[in-house]
Amino acid sequence: MKNLTKSELSPLKSIEEWDDDVLKRYPEPGPAKAKDEFRNYDSPEIDGVREFYRLNHKYQTYDNVLAKKANFLKFDKKEMPWWSAMEYLNTLIDESDPDISLDQLQHLLQTSEAIRADGHPDWFVLTGFIHDLGKVLCLFGEPQWNVVGDSFPVGCKFSDKIVYPEFFAANPDNHDERFNTKYGVYTHQCGLDNIHMSWGHDEYLYHITKNYLPEEALYMIRYHSFYSQHRENAYDHLLNAHDKEMFKWVDKFNPYDLYSKSPVTPVVSELKPYYEDLIAKYLPPKVKL
Ligand SMILES: [Fe+2]
Ligand SMILES: [Fe+2]
Repeated sequence: MKNLTKSELSPLKSIEEWDDDVLKRYPEPGPAKAKDEFRNYDSPEIDGVREFYRLNHKYQTYDNVLAKKANFLKFDKKEMPWWSAMEYLNTLIDESDPDISLDQLQHLLQTSEAIRADGHPDWFVLTGFIHDLGKVLCLFGEPQWNVVGDSFPVGCKFSDKIVYPEFFAANPDNHDERFNTKYGVYTHQCGLDNIHMSWGHDEYLYHITKNYLPEEALYMIRYHSFYSQHRENAYDHLLNAHDKEMFKWVDKFNPYDLYSKSPVTPVVSELKPYYEDLIAKYLPPKVKL
């Protein structure tokens, strides 16, 4: 990829602005939460989010995905114990944004603790704990739009159910007849395993964990940002019957990701032994990034 300017690498003050924007788009159903429980949105932030989507939709091409897979699925960047990797992810904090109340580890622990409190299986709790580890891509110098953002299939027509669909006009694939038809390079209900998703933290962590976690967990990890499908059913023509069955788990996971922000900050040192045991039960001692 050609040299990107600082504002093209990081249109958002922090990558959490994308998560916050999703929460605005899909607010928690039921009685409205007290307004000041969540962050206020002023217009500079909204402009940053818009610019973020513009760049994401322009640059997430089929070729971008193949190039990122060729690079990052070599897993030759770093190797460390899982807990250290979680701490490494937590170095991703933006000091320029004092408004940020939760760091990465706190978001992950709030998600996983909410799953645990509801009595779900331990692999589901572990999935909640690690689901955003792929955001370490930011620490490897990847632009924000190659790390977070709604994910979607590349290689076929971009759905108008994806947020800011008009920005896809600037994506070269939109003008490439191999890629701009309903099915593009795919076939009717060929199954998501045969489809390339836009590159980001979801797809990356899926490949890191695919040999170790139950399939339900892998669906949650791989498709948790695929809002145009799990909220809008925009790609039913590509999912097979098994995908549809498995998406029940993606749906189960999503509210924990979006709505588990609680005013109580998890105490990392108290929770660490439990999560170290969970990691040891399911994952190898070290993670290759
Ligand atoms: Fe995520
Ligand atoms: Fe998350």
